[in-house]
Parts: sequence; C-alpha cells; structure tokens
Amino acid sequence: MRTMEDRAVAAYRTRFGIDPEVIGSAPGRVNVIGEHTDYNGGFVLPCAINLRVAAAMGIGTGEWYSADYDQARAAGGCKEDSWADYPRGVAWSLADAGHQVGRFQAAFAGDVPQASGLSSSAAIECATAVGLNELFALGLAYPDLARLCQRAENRFIGINSGIMDQYASLLCRQDAALLIDCRSLEATPVPFDLTAAGLVLLVCDTKVGRELGSTGYNDRRAACERAASTLGVELLRDATLYDLRRLSGEELKRARHVVSENDRVLAAAEALVRGDYQELGRLMYASHASLRDDFEVSTAELDAFVSIAADCDALGARLTGAGFGGCAIALVESELSETVEQTVLQRFVAAGFATPEFYRFEASAGAEVVR
Ligand code: GLA
Repeated sequence: MRTMEDRAVAAYRTRFGIDPEVIGSAPGRVNVIGEHTDYNGGFVLPCAINLRVAAAMGIGTGEWYSADYDQARAAGGCKEDSWADYPRGVAWSLADAGHQVGRFQAAFAGDVPQASGLSSSAAIECATAVGLNELFALGLAYPDLARLCQRAENRFIGINSGIMDQYASLLCRQDAALLIDCRSLEATPVPFDLTAAGLVLLVCDTKVGRELGSTGYNDRRAACERAASTLGVELLRDATLYDLRRLSGEELKRARHVVSENDRVLAAAEALVRGDYQELGRLMYASHASLRDDFEVSTAELDAFVSIAADCDALGARLTGAGFGGCAIALVESELSETVEQTVLQRFVAAGFATPEFYRFEASAGAEVVR
C-alpha cells in the first residue's frame, strides 16, 4: 500500500476500532497540454501524479473523518464549504442517478496540494467513488464514475468544470499520459516515460491563490459558448481556424486559443508516440503563449516561470490547469531541473513574488481499490 492508503487505514482503525472493508485511492493530475478545451468538446493530455487521496471505508455510522484536518463530519446534508462536500457530492450524485448507496463510515488522507491546480478535489471525489462502487457493489465502469464525479462537482460543489480532472484521476496509467477526446470520451494512453527519456516534469506552485478563478473560469466558458453560437456550431471543437474570420474581439481571441490548442494536443500526442520531446516542448511554449495572449488566464508569476524555464533551456513550459494562479510546469533534462528551480527561486524573490513550491512528478497510476 502507498503512504496515503496506510494513513487512511490507520485513521480508520483509530476512529472506528475496526478494519475498513475497502480502500479507494485516486491521484491528482497534471495537464501536459490541452487547456480550456475539455468543456469545448476538444482534446486534453493529462497524466496522473504520484500524490493521492485515499478513502478507507466500511458500512457503518455515517461518520466521516479527515486525517489531514483531524476533523469529523456527518454524512448527508447540504454543502457546508468543507472537505466533506466532495464525498457528500459524490454520494448525492450516485444516489441521484438511481444507485443504491447506503450509510458508510470513512477516513480520508491525502497529500495532493489544495487550490493549486493539481486536482485535489477530483482526487477525493474519485477515491470516494471507486470506494463506494466496491463497497455497495454498484458495478459501474470508471468512465461512468468520472461522469458522476463531474456531476458532483458541477451540481453539488457548483464549479462548472469539464470532464478532464475526473477522467484523468480515474483512467490514467503509470508512465503514460491520457489523450482524451472530451466529446466522444474516448481515452487513449500515450507513452510518457520521463525517467527513460532522462527528463523530469518540474511543477512550480506559484502559491498565488485562485480566488478569482471560478468567476474567471465561468466567464471564459461563457465566452466560448457565445463564440460557438456565433459560428453556428454546438461546440468550438467543430470550428476551424478558417471559421474564425467570422469572429471578432473577445470571442475571436477565446476561440482562437481553443481551436489552436486542440491542434497542439493532437500534435503533442503524436510527438509522444515518436518519443519526440523537443516537439512536445515547443508545443508547450506555444500553448502558454496562447493562454497568456488569447485566453488571458496567465499571471505575472506564471509568465515569469515560463520565461525563466526558457532561459534555462527547458524543452518546454506552460501554465497548467485553469490558470489565474496555481501551477506551471516545465519539461527539463533531469540534470538541469535543480538549476531551473534555483533560478526561479532567486528571480521570484527579486521580483517580490511569493516563494513558490516545487514538485517533480512521474506519470503515475490512476484510481484503484486497494486491499
Ligand atoms: C480546471 C477544470 C478542467 C479544465 C481546466 C482547464 O482544471 O476543472 O475541467 O477545464 O481547468 O483546462
């Protein structure tokens, strides 16, 4: 068992005095490329990270305990703006779709950083979902669980997010990124063995809060929907660069990002199949420029990270996740990653930015039930 799974089991035993019946475990994710394309029916290429949330569960009292917050909450009820909203949302979503979910007790433990764009919310939702699927023998396939978790996020938590995070958390595999067609929901693993290529994915959490993120996110989504409607297509996925001549102003900029980003994702997946990390890097830089100039979701810190990474000869770098703060990533040769980290630290201090935090990720396994 992984560390988080051990912690969840230990917390369950201490809290409830017995062993759990099942342990659901699900990772956070980092998106390699394909930002703000999922809700436009487009393509994304995330991978799971080696940070997870584990949920030790059993049929029982309806008490839920978080080892991270040392806090107990009761099952059921309305949203209360705490960690328990995520399992609550998932239980609601399953029941609302007609699945029989009884009373359960649970202990949660996780190490996915929160509010930094690494999908800690998808991790706790998906850990809960795979655990409940097993505990109550619901027999649901992981793609169905992903849709139900997304529904929990949209309808219970109130964030109008796309399907990427839950799909990535549930379906990613070790040493692979996942090419997801967010319209057909077809998901194809693409080789992404960074260690074998002598590379690391350096993740920089800029520690800039994403408070404005949900408003900005919903605004961007609305602008994409307006652009699609002006073009007479259901989703921007169906628009081409040639169609964009019929748009102007904000709609043009937002749609140009989405249409060009979809092309970049497909090119990136092909590059990975060939093992062409130079090309992947080039596409990452182009993605960042488009997110900065056309989609306008970058920040001074995210831009600074990308330009410092370029100065240090990173193959590629870009903001990852929704933007408006949070994390950026750089694809760098292993022996250079320390230099990139130190240079970013120095220049962030000089610029008066918050001290960032760094992670090095390998593409990790998706959600599973552990025994
Ligand atoms: C957030 C959302 C995703 C996706 C990204 C942007 O992570 O949860 O659905 O839209 O932003 O690519």
